[in-house]
Amino acid sequence: MSSGSLSTNHLLGIKYISRSDIELIFKTADGFKDVINRPIKKVPSLRDVTIANLFFENSTRTKISFELAEKRLSADVVNFSASSSSVKKGETLLDTVNNVLAMKVDMVVMRHPVPGAPMFLSKKIDASVINAGDGTHEHPTQALLDAYSIRRHLGSVEGKKIVIIGDIKHSRVALSNIFCLTKMGAHIKLCGPPTLIPKHIESLGVEVEYDLDKALEWCDVANVLRIQLERQDIKYIPSLREYNLYYGIDKERLNRLDKEITIMHPGPINRGVELNSDVADSDHSIILQQVENGVAIRMAVLYLLAGRKPISKI
Ligand code: CP
Repeated sequence: MSSGSLSTNHLLGIKYISRSDIELIFKTADGFKDVINRPIKKVPSLRDVTIANLFFENSTRTKISFELAEKRLSADVVNFSASSSSVKKGETLLDTVNNVLAMKVDMVVMRHPVPGAPMFLSKKIDASVINAGDGTHEHPTQALLDAYSIRRHLGSVEGKKIVIIGDIKHSRVALSNIFCLTKMGAHIKLCGPPTLIPKHIESLGVEVEYDLDKALEWCDVANVLRIQLERQDIKYIPSLREYNLYYGIDKERLNRLDKEITIMHPGPINRGVELNSDVADSDHSIILQQVENGVAIRMAVLYLLAGRKPISKI
């Protein structure tokens, strides 16, 4: 297991961490990747640490992945879901969290629909806070597992050409990926309908390409995002059918390219909209490797934030 420490007590966004933090997380994740592929997948690293998973918004992958990562590290875990809690009776975020912390919780993993909610919380409590996705702002562990998956699949992130396709405007995954991949030295293009690409996004060091076929011809990796219908207060695209025609990726489209590219997706996939099954389930896709790598990355983040002394053998 690697030694060293992060420059921060919280993981609120990729914007607030350095390239060396990211490299330390990757190196630590390499060790945990070996652990989760052993017959005995559990290590005692976070014994006596209690972690609360506070989910104020729906999740499948992130929630299960954090819980599994915590259990693999032998932490004590409590799960909170807003839909079945006293939030429904009008309790505030701070009251909810203070009540959970009064039960002696050391770390909080939080998903919340409001951008900045984990940052707000980190200023009010002593426990380490990990942002598991805050509205349209950031999803740092998703970006870390995406970049880590590229590194494992292609050998490095530095110099790779990566296109992020789809609903950039509403996507916390896109923003965290932009911060993470540019810090790691990749070249980024964004592709999607003009209505779903924020104005002045080039100021973050990325280029914009509206033609999907040109973007695919340019890239080594396509990270495909879903259309976030739940965050669209107005109609940004005429129809899902038209979106699929212009921005959907199917095997026929990939077969027209001069080269093979890697397909990624953070999930959940809208099959037949941004990605067809003949691509999602093909050898081009590393979508399930992303999910597996997510557990190792989250173990690394929890371990490093808990500030545990490195143990020689895990
Ligand atoms: N990728 C991701 O955040 O998925 P969930 O919303 O299911 O957690």
